[in-house]
Amino acid sequence: MTRLIFIIVLCLISSAVGIGQEAIISFTSGALQLAGGKSITSLFLSSADFPGVLRAGQDLSGDFGRVTGNNLTVVTKDQTTTDTSSSSGPVIIAGTIGKSTLIDSLVSAGKLDVSSINGQWEAFQTQIVANPMAGLASALVIAGSDKRGTIYGIYDISEQIGVSPWYWFADVATTQQTNIYALDVHKVQASPSVKYRGIFLNDEQPALTNWVKEKYGGVGYVSGFYSRVFELLLRLRANYLWPTMWDSMFALDDVKNQPLADTYGIVMGTSHTEPLMRSTKEQSKYCTGAWDWSTNKANIITFLTEGAKRAEPYESLYSMGMRGSGDTASPTLNAAALEDVISEQQKILTSVVNNNLSLVPQLWCPYKEVGGYYQKGMTVPDDITILWPDDNVGNMQRLPIPSELGRSGGGGVYYHFDYVGDPRNYKWINTILPQKTWEQMHLTYARDARKIWIVNVGDLKPLELPISHFLDMAYDMTLFSSPDSTTSWLAQWATREFGSAVSTATASVMDRYGRFANRRKYELLDATIYSVVNYNEADTVLNEWETMVANAQKIYDSLPANAQPGFFELVLHPCKAGYILHQLYVNTAKNNLYAKQNRVSAAMYGANAVSAYAADSALATTYHKMLGGKWDHMMDQTHIGYTNWQQPASNSMPAQSYPAKSTTAAPGVFVDGGSATALPMMDPYGPATRWIDIYSKGNTTSTFTVTSDAWVTLTPSSGTLTPPGKTSDQRVLVSVDWASAPAGASNSKIGVNAGGSAFSISLPLRNTNVTAGFSGFVESDQTISIEPEHWSSATSSSDAEYGIIPGYGRSLSGVTLFPVTIATQTPPTSAKLTYNIFLFTPTTASITVHLATSMNTDHSRPLTYAISIDDAAPTTAQYVPIADLGTMPSNWKTAVENAGYSYTTKHAVTTGAHVLNLWAVEPGVVFQKIVVDLGGVRTSYLGPPESMRVGVGSLAIE
Ligand SMILES: *[C@@H]1O[C@H](CO)[C@@H](O)[C@H](O)[C@H]1NC(C)=O
Ligand SMILES: *[C@@H]1O[C@H](CO)[C@@H](O)[C@H](O)[C@H]1NC(C)=O
Ligand SMILES: *[C@@H]1O[C@H](CO)[C@@H](O)[C@H](O)[C@H]1NC(C)=O
Ligand SMILES: *[C@@H]1O[C@H](CO)[C@@H](O)[C@H](O)[C@H]1NC(C)=O
Repeated sequence: MTRLIFIIVLCLISSAVGIGQEAIISFTSGALQLAGGKSITSLFLSSADFPGVLRAGQDLSGDFGRVTGNNLTVVTKDQTTTDTSSSSGPVIIAGTIGKSTLIDSLVSAGKLDVSSINGQWEAFQTQIVANPMAGLASALVIAGSDKRGTIYGIYDISEQIGVSPWYWFADVATTQQTNIYALDVHKVQASPSVKYRGIFLNDEQPALTNWVKEKYGGVGYVSGFYSRVFELLLRLRANYLWPTMWDSMFALDDVKNQPLADTYGIVMGTSHTEPLMRSTKEQSKYCTGAWDWSTNKANIITFLTEGAKRAEPYESLYSMGMRGSGDTASPTLNAAALEDVISEQQKILTSVVNNNLSLVPQLWCPYKEVGGYYQKGMTVPDDITILWPDDNVGNMQRLPIPSELGRSGGGGVYYHFDYVGDPRNYKWINTILPQKTWEQMHLTYARDARKIWIVNVGDLKPLELPISHFLDMAYDMTLFSSPDSTTSWLAQWATREFGSAVSTATASVMDRYGRFANRRKYELLDATIYSVVNYNEADTVLNEWETMVANAQKIYDSLPANAQPGFFELVLHPCKAGYILHQLYVNTAKNNLYAKQNRVSAAMYGANAVSAYAADSALATTYHKMLGGKWDHMMDQTHIGYTNWQQPASNSMPAQSYPAKSTTAAPGVFVDGGSATALPMMDPYGPATRWIDIYSKGNTTSTFTVTSDAWVTLTPSSGTLTPPGKTSDQRVLVSVDWASAPAGASNSKIGVNAGGSAFSISLPLRNTNVTAGFSGFVESDQTISIEPEHWSSATSSSDAEYGIIPGYGRSLSGVTLFPVTIATQTPPTSAKLTYNIFLFTPTTASITVHLATSMNTDHSRPLTYAISIDDAAPTTAQYVPIADLGTMPSNWKTAVENAGYSYTTKHAVTTGAHVLNLWAVEPGVVFQKIVVDLGGVRTSYLGPPESMRVGVGSLAIE
């Protein structure tokens, strides 16, 4: 089948980079030279155009200055006859159809055909026009279908000449260019995929608020701050903003805020809980009486009417409905009352804003308890966009079902990259897995929730990458149809921000970063998460972070000095910050365990943890002091020492323990898997080595020797245990020479003699081969662990097939059905995954399938998979219970904490070769891992590492 296109073409032309955008600029050659020629290029704007267009034109002029050293000469004129100032050099003409006299005269003279964009929402075209006016041979013309169409056309050039949307907010450096050329292309940029695309600044205390206080005179969220945000949003091709709300009043903190947003071209809204453009703080300050519809309706109507009147002159998107005060559930509202609230609000809009309500954009968000009213049958007027909320952790709770399609108001999404609440806040630094964002937004788009996409971005600053990704999808979802689109997007993002020389390495770092950080939110990490006993889990995880930081540091060191701050903020800082936290907790885990064992090395791990704790605040200080303190306070957020969902008042060092003082105690032993006397069984298909720790419990030096059968190799087989320090513990690696080991089952004894004490450790062996010719996964340690993309076969049907989302989940990738609009599947005949497995243990196997955190977006079609062994009838597993809208399924908390659901079914199995069959019954089921437990699965966070596959050639060592 070729329905899925797994190949993405990277458009990296001549190093002029706009993410995913058609290139119109080159630095080497082109039809019209815009920089590097004899004279400065002029930008012609019409004084009749929108002030926001004239303002963006000034930015383009300055952007040329950033790149070439020379600003464009901005010429505001309203006639197309020549004058001397305009004929002396190259010219860019930018303007809005129907508004710019320059564009309109080109159209009426037949020199510019705008028929493909005229009347469209936020569209533009860019092309070179010959003889646009007397005395001018050619000009680069940007024509927008409306105000923002023109603005996006202008910023398209800014981005392509090398000015990142994040040049100010993340200090992304511009590369100097001598020559800039416009290519001879006729670019037509259609309307964005999603009509309203924006961010919500929220939970802004302490970081953003402290920063704003310091930088903007201590008077709150003023226009100096917001103008930066408006510009950023427009450069990111967004158009919509929910302003900060906890202790601010956008329209009143600075009376310039609201008109300025409109001038820039930003559509203002308020959060879902702040109806008719009045902030929460205004509710308590200016609404007479209680915020209670049942007792104070008239005053609330008066209060809301003032909000509508205040917003009416400006482009506004009205949030409708109501919650209790302060973004909490109301004790008195119900479905009927909320219908009345909305009806009265629509009356206000009709009288104040427009008597044709279909021309007034409105949204209503079934958030938390409000969703419950909807479920109980509350009706919502058709012209209101239903803004479907996620579960606050990036999983859509609901999406439009067939009966909700075709509403004139359509559907939208309220999404989260930051949250305060259950199961735990996540608001320190970025923890977003971009592949997960893609999977949910791709589903959302396919399910026709396309009118509004807004994402809660906390303090904005540490979430630059996920914000870019989300808004790029919202702008043009056609570039994101492939399940591996995140891989190519990361490469394009890295190229834009840091240049093509480091883009592959940078994209690789951020691909890993998203996966590592998403395994468990930082706020939910502690010393008990990753196992220091089984599967070498904690060390493996820590090594992954260490390698990633080393890779990031190497890139950083290779960059010119002016590019380093941006790289630090976007890449190196989050990598280091996450690594330090993992150092803190892994060292604490070792300290705590080893102290119980009276190992003298416990003190060293405790000291390592103390250093990591200090490094955490030192890194925040580095962030705060860089660039002369530009981002002071941005890392003020506490993140260590959570005990419940709410953030702690300050960070606190996790408890360390220290062994009782002793100078004479004999050494001890501790082995892989957590016992002192037996190692896990070894066989030719498991890990090549196991370990034995021999450790000092005293302050004296002692020696040790280790012995076993000839086929058991022990490295080292002797050594010295020193007083406290790196070598007070010795790890002996155990491996087996299978060619000389006895066939079948046997048991080797390992003798340890340390400081005069003798220990005996048993090592069960099974030297049995799989049947010749078998290809697939082989049991070891009574376990088979499978990465779902390593299927033996994947069958498709006429309507569905499996695809791989690289980098999705906690380890390698996710496997799911495409397209996501298919009907419910019918095992066993529907598209199926099979895994050949070879078992040595006849038993009742528990097979645990690990799945994405995605939820039941259509309650009539709960997420379900089916599973069987060989020809047995499939067992179906509905792993996410149906929950009323606004409440969470019973297993939701565990699932979002662990970054995945898991579900276990039982299957009687015999020894030998078998086939594990797996079906996704609904689209949206994403497989992350499969673990067959034959009695040997050990405690860990990520589950057993993938088992060995035989007979699949080089694939086995992927
Ligand atoms: C270039 O443009 C920038 C941004 O608009 C402005 O701040 C700067 O003063 C301009 N430089 C000159 C030399 O006009
Ligand atoms: C309201 O506006 C819509 C959209 O422009 C239009 O189709 C409709 O005819 C208008 N209704 C009235 C009553 O004017
Ligand atoms: C070992 O000696 C060091 C240094 O004298 C001392 O700090 C530590 O407490 C001693 N540890 C034990 C377990 O006796
Ligand atoms: C397993 O297969 C290998 C390679 O064919 C062979 O060398 C070895 O002797 C076999 N082991 C047993 C126990 O049969």
